[in-house]
Amino acid sequence: MTIQNTRGRFITLEGGEGAGKSTQAARLESRLRARGFEAVLTREPGGSPLAEQIRSAILSGAIAPLGPAAEAVMFSAARIDHLRHTIRPALDSGKWVICDRFSDSTRAYQGALGNLDPQFLRELERVTVGPTRPDLTIVIDVPAELGLARARARSAFADRFEAEGLAFHEALRNAFLDIAVDEPRRCAVVDGAGDADAVSDTIWRIVCERLVESPEPSPEKKAAP
Ligand code: TYD
Repeated sequence: MTIQNTRGRFITLEGGEGAGKSTQAARLESRLRARGFEAVLTREPGGSPLAEQIRSAILSGAIAPLGPAAEAVMFSAARIDHLRHTIRPALDSGKWVICDRFSDSTRAYQGALGNLDPQFLRELERVTVGPTRPDLTIVIDVPAELGLARARARSAFADRFEAEGLAFHEALRNAFLDIAVDEPRRCAVVDGAGDADAVSDTIWRIVCERLVESPEPSPEKKAAP
């Protein structure tokens, strides 16, 4: 299968802890490069020097006492820098950007954790992201227990969000699935419980289908606040 159009595209991978996003993001980058596309692999929080500093502050738990609204603002500050210094320059030069987490993580994590006013989150996203919305978002879905078990097997140290309880991670899973239901043209849900090769083949098929057959931005993207 080949991808014919040459414009840079913005692909995000989303999901809860231990969904396998980072592995799949790296595989997608390799597949794009193997077909001659210039691809930039990046992640959030982080992806630019200032955003990496903000990442350290958030994941250390230092911001948590200020509450979920403050965390949402911090993730958004990191995103503004990431967009400015990494994502937009790459897209503007025709590269494909693959981003491991983006604004849906703020909607899901800070929304699920903090019971935040959805209008506040929408406005924050609008101001933060502006017109640079993903062309495609792959939501990798795994049961919360499986994802947490994978995350714990990977590292004995639980970061800020891995340390939250199972109910939080179940709410998180539902929040990502709800986003995909609300924006079906932008999002595709992939079952991440299977082996990495099968997941990566599924993602590749979706990328080829979605980004070849509907090269124009989705209506949700145009209509987004
Ligand atoms: P990271 O180590 O990158 O985790 P993962 O491999 O699961 O992506 O840590 C990022 C953590 O930050 C992760 O628990 C999700 C959380 N997060 C938010 O809560 N809001 C956000 O907007 C983003 C981008 C991440």
